[in-house]
Amino acid sequence: MIAKTLISAAMLASVVTAGPISLVRDLREYKTDVEIHSSCNSTQRRMLQKALADTFEVASFAKEYVVTNGPEDPVFQMYFGKEKEAYSTVVGVWDSLLTSNKEGVLLRCDNPDGNCGQPGWRGHWRGDNATSETVICDLSYTDRFYNEYFCMNGYTVAGFPLGTHWSIDLIHRMFHVPAITNELVGHYSEDYASALELAEHNSTYSPMDSDALQAFAAHVYAVEIAQGGETCIGQVAQDSHDHDHASASTASTTPSAAASAAQSCHTHVDGAAHCEDDNATAYTTIASAAAETSDANAGKDCHTHADGTIHCV
Ligand SMILES: *[C@@H]1O[C@H](CO)[C@@H](O)[C@H](O)[C@H]1NC(C)=O
Ligand SMILES: *[C@@H]1O[C@H](CO)[C@@H](O)[C@H](O)[C@H]1NC(C)=O
Ligand SMILES: *[C@@H]1O[C@H](CO)[C@@H](O)[C@H](O)[C@H]1NC(C)=O
Ligand SMILES: *[C@@H]1O[C@H](CO)[C@@H](O)[C@H](O)[C@H]1NC(C)=O
Repeated sequence: MIAKTLISAAMLASVVTAGPISLVRDLREYKTDVEIHSSCNSTQRRMLQKALADTFEVASFAKEYVVTNGPEDPVFQMYFGKEKEAYSTVVGVWDSLLTSNKEGVLLRCDNPDGNCGQPGWRGHWRGDNATSETVICDLSYTDRFYNEYFCMNGYTVAGFPLGTHWSIDLIHRMFHVPAITNELVGHYSEDYASALELAEHNSTYSPMDSDALQAFAAHVYAVEIAQGGETCIGQVAQDSHDHDHASASTASTTPSAAASAAQSCHTHVDGAAHCEDDNATAYTTIASAAAETSDANAGKDCHTHADGTIHCV
């Protein structure tokens, strides 16, 4: 859907007489919606349309929750810390995601960079190759869940990958597109547990932390919309703060336990690959692990840092 800007350049020219500020300029076209590229077939298009609608539903509710409950709300403070200035940043992030000009923002299905062939890749931001484009790989269509699935089958916000649902995954992917938040949002934590840690001890960057924003959105949706209660939030695994470090070369030839798990990967501006466990098998594995014991090795999140180390949490 394309909404033309109300004041056209021609109208502006007729009103404007003189003065340096009143320069006649080409106003940009404003697009409300993310485009689905022609490389997506009818099935992919229908699924992506639903996924995008889910994304906007979750983001709208996240904003509504913040606006309604303010910065002293315990859930707000859990993810964004106690500085009340965080409020405007968080509202602004959701508003930007919802209303920023989507001109050129594209989801595509044709694997133009060849990354979908890599094991476990479910999609990626195209980075320098096309900053406003995101590739959705075939595996996404078999592994991700729609919003209705929140709190089903043992899912917990704390115990499952953030990208379990299409909506949260696409929120993450949209945060990588510069036009969405003008690069305000970045990765300042590694996963759910470290996002909570950041909010508790060092919250300056929490309101612009991708994982904190995703986790907050999942949390308020799970409780308020899906009505899953505390059970659907769950607990962070006990030793989730034990960090494994492995060299990238080791991991690429003989994958470590963490790196061999099903992962969803994309590449950051600095060239670092960011992978998260999140296929359906991982889902089941984590669900049964969580049910039996709190096996902390199930469902790890790994990042490859710019220095080549892989960091798993
Ligand atoms: C669309 O593409 C997917 C993945 O290649 C394929 O499984 C599916 O059958 C296609 N759908 C149609 C309607 O062609
Ligand atoms: C950009 O394109 C190059 C060449 O096709 C490819 O090697 C690289 O992985 C691509 N970058 C991303 C982020 O996909
Ligand atoms: C606080 O977080 C920022 C961003 O992650 C980091 O650069 C900084 O070192 C942290 N400070 C402390 C005291 O942990
Ligand atoms: C999911 O991940 C598991 C490993 O954890 C792997 O064996 C399986 O093939 C993956 N499934 C898909 C559909 O990629």
